[in-house]
Amino acid sequence: MRPRDPSTGLLWTFALGSVISTYILILIGGYVTTSDSGLGCGESWPLCSGAVFPALNNSAQLIEFSHRIFNFVVVFFVLGTALLAWTRFRPAKNVFLFSTASFIGLAAQVILGMVTVTTALNPIISDAHLGLASAILALVVVNAVMVHNLAAIPIKDSR
Ligand code: HEM
Repeated sequence: MRPRDPSTGLLWTFALGSVISTYILILIGGYVTTSDSGLGCGESWPLCSGAVFPALNNSAQLIEFSHRIFNFVVVFFVLGTALLAWTRFRPAKNVFLFSTASFIGLAAQVILGMVTVTTALNPIISDAHLGLASAILALVVVNAVMVHNLAAIPIKDSR
Protein backbone atom coordinates (compact mmCIF):
# COMPACT_ATOMS: atom_id res chain seq x y z
CA MET A 1 0.00 0.00 0.00
CA ARG A 2 2.98 2.40 0.37
CA PRO A 3 4.21 4.49 -2.57
CA ARG A 4 7.22 3.17 -4.50
CA ASP A 5 9.29 6.34 -3.91
CA PRO A 6 10.36 6.52 -0.25
CA SER A 7 10.50 10.36 -0.45
CA THR A 8 6.70 10.40 -0.66
CA GLY A 9 6.42 8.28 2.49
CA LEU A 10 5.72 11.19 4.85
CA LEU A 11 3.25 12.76 2.42
CA TRP A 12 1.52 9.37 2.11
CA THR A 13 1.29 9.03 5.89
CA PHE A 14 -0.38 12.44 6.18
CA ALA A 15 -2.66 11.84 3.18
CA LEU A 16 -3.78 8.46 4.53
CA GLY A 17 -4.17 9.94 8.04
CA SER A 18 -6.42 12.62 6.52
CA VAL A 19 -8.70 9.96 5.00
CA ILE A 20 -8.96 7.84 8.14
CA SER A 21 -9.40 10.77 10.56
CA THR A 22 -11.98 12.51 8.34
CA TYR A 23 -13.96 9.29 8.11
CA ILE A 24 -13.89 8.82 11.88
CA LEU A 25 -14.95 12.46 12.44
CA ILE A 26 -17.90 11.94 10.10
CA LEU A 27 -18.93 8.88 12.12
CA ILE A 28 -18.70 10.89 15.35
CA GLY A 29 -20.71 13.71 13.69
CA GLY A 30 -23.42 11.23 12.71
CA TYR A 31 -23.56 10.07 16.31
CA VAL A 32 -23.84 13.68 17.51
CA THR A 33 -26.96 14.03 15.35
CA THR A 34 -28.58 10.65 16.02
CA SER A 35 -28.03 10.90 19.78
CA ASP A 36 -29.50 14.42 19.74
CA SER A 37 -26.31 15.86 21.23
CA GLY A 38 -25.86 18.81 18.84
CA LEU A 39 -26.42 21.34 21.61
CA GLY A 40 -24.45 19.36 24.21
CA CYS A 41 -22.12 22.36 24.54
CA GLY A 42 -25.02 24.82 24.40
CA GLU A 43 -24.85 27.48 21.69
CA SER A 44 -21.30 28.36 22.68
CA TRP A 45 -18.29 28.11 20.36
CA PRO A 46 -15.28 27.75 20.46
CA LEU A 47 -15.90 27.26 24.18
CA CYS A 48 -18.07 24.33 25.25
CA SER A 49 -20.77 25.48 27.70
CA GLY A 50 -18.56 28.50 28.34
CA ALA A 51 -15.45 26.45 29.27
CA VAL A 52 -12.28 25.37 27.45
CA PHE A 53 -12.51 22.01 29.23
CA PRO A 54 -16.12 21.46 30.33
CA ALA A 55 -17.07 19.20 33.23
CA LEU A 56 -18.34 16.54 30.79
CA ASN A 57 -20.99 15.55 33.29
CA ASN A 58 -23.66 14.61 30.75
CA SER A 59 -23.50 12.35 27.72
CA ALA A 60 -24.65 14.98 25.18
CA GLN A 61 -21.82 17.28 26.23
CA LEU A 62 -19.29 14.45 26.08
CA ILE A 63 -20.41 13.45 22.56
CA GLU A 64 -20.44 17.02 21.17
CA PHE A 65 -17.11 17.82 22.84
CA SER A 66 -15.53 14.64 21.36
CA HIS A 67 -16.65 15.80 17.91
CA ARG A 68 -15.00 19.18 18.43
CA ILE A 69 -11.79 17.77 19.93
CA PHE A 70 -11.35 15.11 17.23
CA ASN A 71 -11.51 17.96 14.75
CA PHE A 72 -7.93 18.81 15.84
CA VAL A 73 -6.74 15.37 14.67
CA VAL A 74 -8.24 16.03 11.23
CA VAL A 75 -6.71 19.52 11.13
CA PHE A 76 -3.32 18.02 12.04
CA PHE A 77 -3.36 15.59 9.11
CA VAL A 78 -5.03 17.84 6.51
CA LEU A 79 -2.83 20.85 7.35
CA GLY A 80 0.26 18.62 7.45
CA THR A 81 -0.57 17.25 3.99
CA ALA A 82 -1.08 20.78 2.65
CA LEU A 83 2.18 22.07 4.17
CA LEU A 84 4.12 19.21 2.58
CA ALA A 85 2.38 19.75 -0.77
CA TRP A 86 3.09 23.49 -0.67
CA THR A 87 6.74 23.22 0.36
CA ARG A 88 8.14 19.92 -0.92
CA PHE A 89 5.83 18.67 -3.66
CA ARG A 90 4.93 21.78 -5.66
CA PRO A 91 5.73 20.06 -8.99
CA ALA A 92 2.95 17.54 -8.31
CA LYS A 93 0.19 19.92 -9.45
CA ASN A 94 -2.77 17.62 -8.73
CA VAL A 95 -1.59 16.88 -5.21
CA PHE A 96 -0.95 20.60 -4.66
CA LEU A 97 -4.47 21.41 -5.87
CA PHE A 98 -6.33 18.73 -3.92
CA SER A 99 -4.33 19.25 -0.71
CA THR A 100 -5.13 22.97 -0.90
CA ALA A 101 -8.81 22.32 -1.66
CA SER A 102 -9.03 19.86 1.27
CA PHE A 103 -7.55 22.45 3.63
CA ILE A 104 -9.87 25.23 2.40
CA GLY A 105 -12.85 22.86 2.68
CA LEU A 106 -11.87 21.94 6.24
CA ALA A 107 -11.46 25.61 7.25
CA ALA A 108 -14.94 26.33 5.83
CA GLN A 109 -16.30 23.30 7.68
CA VAL A 110 -14.99 24.56 11.02
CA ILE A 111 -16.80 27.87 10.39
CA LEU A 112 -19.94 25.99 9.33
CA GLY A 113 -19.66 23.85 12.48
CA MET A 114 -19.61 27.07 14.50
CA VAL A 115 -22.69 28.39 12.64
CA THR A 116 -24.46 25.02 13.16
CA VAL A 117 -24.07 25.51 16.90
CA THR A 118 -24.75 29.26 17.12
CA THR A 119 -27.96 28.93 15.04
CA ALA A 120 -29.16 26.18 17.41
CA LEU A 121 -28.92 23.50 14.70
CA ASN A 122 -30.73 25.33 11.90
CA PRO A 123 -31.70 22.41 9.59
CA ILE A 124 -30.34 24.04 6.42
CA ILE A 125 -26.99 24.84 8.06
CA SER A 126 -26.85 21.35 9.57
CA ASP A 127 -27.52 19.85 6.14
CA ALA A 128 -24.82 22.01 4.56
CA HIS A 129 -22.45 20.76 7.30
CA LEU A 130 -23.20 17.16 6.30
CA GLY A 131 -22.84 18.00 2.59
CA LEU A 132 -19.47 19.70 3.05
CA ALA A 133 -18.26 16.75 5.16
CA SER A 134 -18.97 14.40 2.23
CA ALA A 135 -17.14 16.75 -0.16
CA ILE A 136 -14.09 16.93 2.14
CA LEU A 137 -13.99 13.13 2.37
CA ALA A 138 -14.06 12.92 -1.44
CA LEU A 139 -11.21 15.46 -1.71
CA VAL A 140 -8.93 13.70 0.79
CA VAL A 141 -9.62 10.27 -0.76
CA VAL A 142 -8.80 11.47 -4.29
CA ASN A 143 -5.71 13.23 -2.94
CA ALA A 144 -4.50 10.07 -1.17
CA VAL A 145 -4.94 8.04 -4.38
CA MET A 146 -2.87 10.63 -6.29
CA VAL A 147 -0.19 10.68 -3.60
CA HIS A 148 -0.05 6.90 -3.75
CA ASN A 149 0.50 7.03 -7.50
CA LEU A 150 3.15 9.75 -7.36
CA ALA A 151 6.24 8.98 -9.39
CA ALA A 152 9.65 10.16 -8.10
CA ILE A 153 9.52 13.94 -7.73
CA PRO A 154 12.57 15.99 -6.79
CA ILE A 155 12.06 17.44 -3.32
CA LYS A 156 12.42 21.22 -2.95
CA ASP A 157 13.32 21.62 -6.62
CA SER A 158 10.74 23.73 -8.40
CA ARG A 159 13.18 25.40 -10.82
C1 HEM B 1 -15.09 22.60 15.41
C2 HEM B 1 -15.76 22.39 14.32
C3 HEM B 1 -17.09 21.68 14.30
C4 HEM B 1 -18.22 21.90 15.06
C5 HEM B 1 -18.42 22.95 16.13
C6 HEM B 1 -19.21 20.93 14.63
C7 HEM B 1 -20.49 20.82 15.15
C8 HEM B 1 -21.41 19.88 14.81
C9 HEM B 1 -22.73 19.74 15.38
C10 HEM B 1 -23.33 20.65 16.47
C11 HEM B 1 -23.33 18.70 14.78
C12 HEM B 1 -24.75 18.18 15.08
C13 HEM B 1 -25.74 18.78 14.10
C14 HEM B 1 -27.16 18.34 14.41
O1 HEM B 1 -27.41 17.59 15.35
O2 HEM B 1 -28.08 18.78 13.68
C15 HEM B 1 -22.40 18.14 13.83
C16 HEM B 1 -22.67 17.06 13.04
C17 HEM B 1 -21.82 16.59 12.07
N1 HEM B 1 -20.54 17.03 11.80
FE1 HEM B 1 -19.61 18.57 12.71
N2 HEM B 1 -18.66 20.16 13.62
C18 HEM B 1 -17.38 20.58 13.40
C19 HEM B 1 -16.51 20.07 12.46
C20 HEM B 1 -16.79 19.04 11.60
C21 HEM B 1 -15.90 18.53 10.59
C22 HEM B 1 -14.49 19.08 10.31
C23 HEM B 1 -16.55 17.50 9.96
C24 HEM B 1 -16.09 16.63 8.82
C25 HEM B 1 -15.09 16.82 8.03
C26 HEM B 1 -17.84 17.36 10.56
C27 HEM B 1 -18.80 16.43 10.20
C28 HEM B 1 -20.04 16.30 10.76
C29 HEM B 1 -21.04 15.34 10.33
C30 HEM B 1 -20.92 14.33 9.18
C31 HEM B 1 -22.16 15.52 11.14
C32 HEM B 1 -23.47 14.74 11.09
C33 HEM B 1 -24.45 15.50 10.22
C34 HEM B 1 -25.77 14.79 10.06
O3 HEM B 1 -25.85 13.58 10.26
O4 HEM B 1 -26.76 15.48 9.73
N3 HEM B 1 -17.95 18.30 11.56
N4 HEM B 1 -21.24 18.89 13.86
